[in-house]
Amino acid sequence: MKVSPSLLSANFGNLTPDIEMINASEADYLHLDVMDGVFVPNISFGFPVMKAVAKLCRKPLDVHLMIVEPDKWINQVRDLGAEIMNVHQEACTHLHSTVQRIHQAGMKAGVTICPATPVSTLVDIIEDVDLVLIMSVNPGFGGQPFIEHSLKKTMEVAELKRASGSKAIIEIDGGVNATTGKRLSDAGAEMLVAGSYVFNAENPLEAIRALKHI
Ligand code: DX5
Ligand code: ZN
Repeated sequence: MKVSPSLLSANFGNLTPDIEMINASEADYLHLDVMDGVFVPNISFGFPVMKAVAKLCRKPLDVHLMIVEPDKWINQVRDLGAEIMNVHQEACTHLHSTVQRIHQAGMKAGVTICPATPVSTLVDIIEDVDLVLIMSVNPGFGGQPFIEHSLKKTMEVAELKRASGSKAIIEIDGGVNATTGKRLSDAGAEMLVAGSYVFNAENPLEAIRALKHI
Protein backbone atom coordinates (compact mmCIF):
# COMPACT_ATOMS: atom_id res chain seq x y z
CA MET A 1 0.00 0.00 0.00
CA LYS A 2 1.26 3.48 -0.82
CA VAL A 3 0.89 5.93 2.09
CA SER A 4 0.61 9.71 1.87
CA PRO A 5 0.40 11.32 5.34
CA SER A 6 -1.45 14.64 5.28
CA LEU A 7 0.36 17.61 6.80
CA LEU A 8 -3.01 19.17 7.68
CA SER A 9 -2.99 17.46 11.09
CA ALA A 10 0.67 18.26 11.87
CA ASN A 11 1.79 20.85 14.44
CA PHE A 12 1.55 24.17 12.56
CA GLY A 13 3.43 25.84 15.42
CA ASN A 14 6.53 23.84 14.57
CA LEU A 15 6.42 21.78 11.40
CA THR A 16 10.08 20.75 11.28
CA PRO A 17 9.93 17.76 13.70
CA ASP A 18 6.83 16.44 11.92
CA ILE A 19 8.51 16.67 8.50
CA GLU A 20 11.61 14.96 9.91
CA MET A 21 9.32 12.19 11.21
CA ILE A 22 7.85 11.81 7.70
CA ASN A 23 11.38 11.69 6.23
CA ALA A 24 12.31 8.88 8.63
CA SER A 25 9.06 6.96 8.05
CA GLU A 26 7.90 4.40 5.51
CA ALA A 27 5.62 7.02 3.89
CA ASP A 28 5.72 7.12 0.10
CA TYR A 29 4.61 10.76 -0.21
CA LEU A 30 3.75 13.86 1.80
CA HIS A 31 0.17 15.02 1.10
CA LEU A 32 -0.34 18.81 1.06
CA ASP A 33 -3.93 20.11 1.32
CA VAL A 34 -4.40 23.56 -0.17
CA MET A 35 -7.74 25.30 0.58
CA ASP A 36 -9.03 28.64 -0.63
CA GLY A 37 -12.14 29.33 1.48
CA VAL A 38 -14.20 29.28 -1.75
CA PHE A 39 -14.21 25.73 -3.08
CA VAL A 40 -14.15 24.48 0.52
CA PRO A 41 -15.28 26.28 3.71
CA ASN A 42 -11.77 26.53 5.16
CA ILE A 43 -8.32 27.98 4.41
CA SER A 44 -5.19 25.92 5.15
CA PHE A 45 -1.83 27.12 3.83
CA GLY A 46 -0.35 28.45 0.62
CA PHE A 47 2.85 28.53 -1.40
CA PRO A 48 5.19 30.32 1.06
CA VAL A 49 4.52 27.60 3.65
CA MET A 50 4.72 24.79 1.08
CA LYS A 51 8.06 26.11 -0.20
CA ALA A 52 9.51 25.87 3.29
CA VAL A 53 8.04 22.38 3.70
CA ALA A 54 9.37 21.24 0.30
CA LYS A 55 12.86 22.34 1.30
CA LEU A 56 12.83 20.09 4.37
CA CYS A 57 10.87 17.15 2.98
CA ARG A 58 12.68 14.29 1.26
CA LYS A 59 9.49 12.46 0.25
CA PRO A 60 7.80 13.31 -3.07
CA LEU A 61 4.94 15.76 -2.72
CA ASP A 62 1.31 14.81 -3.40
CA VAL A 63 -0.44 18.19 -3.68
CA HIS A 64 -4.24 18.24 -3.25
CA LEU A 65 -5.72 21.55 -4.45
CA MET A 66 -9.16 22.22 -2.94
CA ILE A 67 -9.42 25.51 -4.80
CA VAL A 68 -11.28 27.08 -7.70
CA GLU A 69 -9.36 27.64 -10.95
CA PRO A 70 -6.44 25.35 -10.11
CA ASP A 71 -5.00 25.95 -13.61
CA LYS A 72 -3.69 29.31 -12.42
CA TRP A 73 -1.29 27.61 -10.03
CA ILE A 74 0.21 24.82 -12.17
CA ASN A 75 3.60 26.50 -12.55
CA GLN A 76 3.85 27.29 -8.86
CA VAL A 77 3.04 23.69 -7.93
CA ARG A 78 5.69 22.53 -10.43
CA ASP A 79 8.21 24.96 -8.91
CA LEU A 80 7.69 23.26 -5.53
CA GLY A 81 9.05 20.12 -7.19
CA ALA A 82 5.73 18.29 -6.66
CA GLU A 83 5.38 14.85 -8.22
CA ILE A 84 1.55 14.74 -8.18
CA MET A 85 -0.90 17.61 -8.67
CA ASN A 86 -4.50 16.69 -7.74
CA VAL A 87 -7.34 18.91 -8.94
CA HIS A 88 -11.03 18.54 -8.20
CA GLN A 89 -13.32 17.40 -10.99
CA GLU A 90 -15.93 19.82 -9.56
CA ALA A 91 -13.52 22.78 -9.77
CA CYS A 92 -12.41 22.34 -13.40
CA THR A 93 -14.56 23.60 -16.26
CA HIS A 94 -12.14 22.11 -18.80
CA LEU A 95 -10.74 19.15 -16.89
CA HIS A 96 -9.10 17.51 -19.91
CA SER A 97 -7.23 20.69 -20.71
CA THR A 98 -6.14 21.10 -17.08
CA VAL A 99 -4.81 17.52 -17.04
CA GLN A 100 -2.89 18.18 -20.27
CA ARG A 101 -1.35 21.32 -18.80
CA ILE A 102 -0.30 19.50 -15.62
CA HIS A 103 1.42 16.89 -17.80
CA GLN A 104 3.07 19.58 -19.92
CA ALA A 105 4.48 21.01 -16.68
CA GLY A 106 6.10 17.63 -16.03
CA MET A 107 3.89 16.42 -13.16
CA LYS A 108 1.60 13.46 -12.64
CA ALA A 109 -2.06 14.51 -12.85
CA GLY A 110 -4.66 13.40 -10.34
CA VAL A 111 -8.40 13.97 -10.55
CA THR A 112 -10.32 14.16 -7.28
CA ILE A 113 -14.04 13.53 -6.69
CA CYS A 114 -16.11 14.64 -3.69
CA PRO A 115 -18.45 12.23 -1.88
CA ALA A 116 -21.52 13.25 -3.94
CA THR A 117 -19.74 13.21 -7.31
CA PRO A 118 -20.47 9.98 -9.19
CA VAL A 119 -17.68 7.75 -10.49
CA SER A 120 -19.32 8.02 -13.93
CA THR A 121 -17.84 11.56 -14.21
CA LEU A 122 -14.43 9.86 -14.59
CA VAL A 123 -15.35 7.73 -17.62
CA ASP A 124 -13.89 10.14 -20.18
CA ILE A 125 -10.82 11.18 -18.20
CA ILE A 126 -9.54 8.06 -16.39
CA GLU A 127 -7.34 7.01 -19.31
CA ASP A 128 -5.59 10.39 -19.25
CA VAL A 129 -4.82 10.67 -15.53
CA ASP A 130 -2.13 9.09 -13.37
CA LEU A 131 -4.26 9.02 -10.25
CA VAL A 132 -7.88 9.14 -9.09
CA LEU A 133 -8.40 10.59 -5.61
CA ILE A 134 -11.68 9.59 -3.97
CA MET A 135 -12.74 11.84 -1.09
CA SER A 136 -14.14 9.71 1.73
CA VAL A 137 -15.11 12.86 3.69
CA ASN A 138 -16.30 16.24 2.48
CA PRO A 139 -13.14 18.19 1.73
CA GLY A 140 -12.07 21.03 4.02
CA PHE A 141 -11.26 19.54 7.41
CA GLY A 142 -9.21 16.80 9.00
CA GLY A 143 -10.57 14.41 11.61
CA GLN A 144 -14.00 13.75 10.08
CA PRO A 145 -15.65 10.32 10.16
CA PHE A 146 -15.21 8.04 7.16
CA ILE A 147 -18.18 7.96 4.75
CA GLU A 148 -19.09 4.28 4.23
CA HIS A 149 -20.35 4.84 0.70
CA SER A 150 -16.71 5.48 -0.32
CA LEU A 151 -16.09 1.72 -0.28
CA LYS A 152 -18.64 1.24 -3.05
CA LYS A 153 -17.08 4.11 -5.01
CA THR A 154 -13.63 2.59 -4.62
CA MET A 155 -14.94 -0.69 -6.09
CA GLU A 156 -16.56 1.24 -8.94
CA VAL A 157 -13.33 3.08 -9.75
CA ALA A 158 -11.41 -0.22 -9.61
CA GLU A 159 -13.91 -1.69 -12.08
CA LEU A 160 -13.68 1.36 -14.36
CA LYS A 161 -9.89 1.09 -14.22
CA ARG A 162 -10.04 -2.58 -15.29
CA ALA A 163 -12.56 -1.93 -18.03
CA SER A 164 -10.67 1.03 -19.48
CA GLY A 165 -7.16 -0.36 -19.09
CA SER A 166 -6.20 2.84 -17.23
CA LYS A 167 -3.06 2.77 -15.10
CA ALA A 168 -4.41 5.41 -12.68
CA ILE A 169 -3.54 4.82 -9.03
CA ILE A 170 -6.60 4.72 -6.76
CA GLU A 171 -6.01 7.02 -3.77
CA ILE A 172 -8.46 7.61 -0.90
CA ASP A 173 -8.56 10.65 1.41
CA GLY A 174 -10.53 11.17 4.62
CA GLY A 175 -11.20 9.20 7.79
CA VAL A 176 -8.51 6.67 6.95
CA ASN A 177 -7.12 4.54 9.77
CA ALA A 178 -5.91 0.92 9.99
CA THR A 179 -9.50 -0.41 10.01
CA THR A 180 -10.98 1.68 7.20
CA GLY A 181 -7.65 1.35 5.38
CA LYS A 182 -7.91 -2.44 5.32
CA ARG A 183 -11.48 -2.29 4.03
CA LEU A 184 -10.45 0.22 1.37
CA SER A 185 -7.55 -2.00 0.35
CA ASP A 186 -9.97 -4.92 -0.08
CA ALA A 187 -12.16 -2.64 -2.23
CA GLY A 188 -9.25 -1.74 -4.54
CA ALA A 189 -7.46 1.25 -2.96
CA GLU A 190 -3.77 1.50 -3.80
CA MET A 191 -2.78 4.64 -1.90
CA LEU A 192 -4.09 6.03 1.40
CA VAL A 193 -4.00 9.59 2.73
CA ALA A 194 -4.10 9.89 6.51
CA GLY A 195 -3.92 13.03 8.63
CA SER A 196 -5.32 12.69 12.13
CA TYR A 197 -4.67 8.93 12.29
CA VAL A 198 -0.95 9.61 11.80
CA PHE A 199 -0.39 12.88 13.64
CA ASN A 200 -2.67 12.20 16.61
CA ALA A 201 -1.13 8.78 17.14
CA GLU A 202 1.09 8.16 20.12
CA ASN A 203 3.61 6.74 17.67
CA PRO A 204 3.17 8.30 14.21
CA LEU A 205 5.91 6.13 12.69
CA GLU A 206 3.99 3.02 13.75
CA ALA A 207 0.73 4.43 12.40
CA ILE A 208 2.38 4.97 9.00
CA ARG A 209 3.88 1.47 9.16
CA ALA A 210 0.46 -0.02 9.95
CA LEU A 211 -1.02 1.57 6.80
CA LYS A 212 2.00 0.69 4.69
CA HIS A 213 1.70 -3.02 5.54
CA ILE A 214 -2.06 -3.37 5.14
C1 DX5 B 1 -9.55 16.99 3.91
C2 DX5 B 1 -8.18 16.72 3.39
C3 DX5 B 1 -7.54 15.52 3.94
C4 DX5 B 1 -7.36 15.54 5.44
C5 DX5 B 1 -7.65 14.16 5.90
O1 DX5 B 1 -10.16 17.96 3.18
O2 DX5 B 1 -8.20 16.56 1.97
O3 DX5 B 1 -6.32 15.23 3.30
O4 DX5 B 1 -6.09 15.93 5.87
O5 DX5 B 1 -7.69 14.16 7.28
P1 DX5 B 1 -8.08 12.86 8.11
O6 DX5 B 1 -7.11 11.78 7.68
O7 DX5 B 1 -7.91 13.30 9.52
O8 DX5 B 1 -9.48 12.52 7.74
ZN1 ZN C 1 -6.31 15.83 0.97
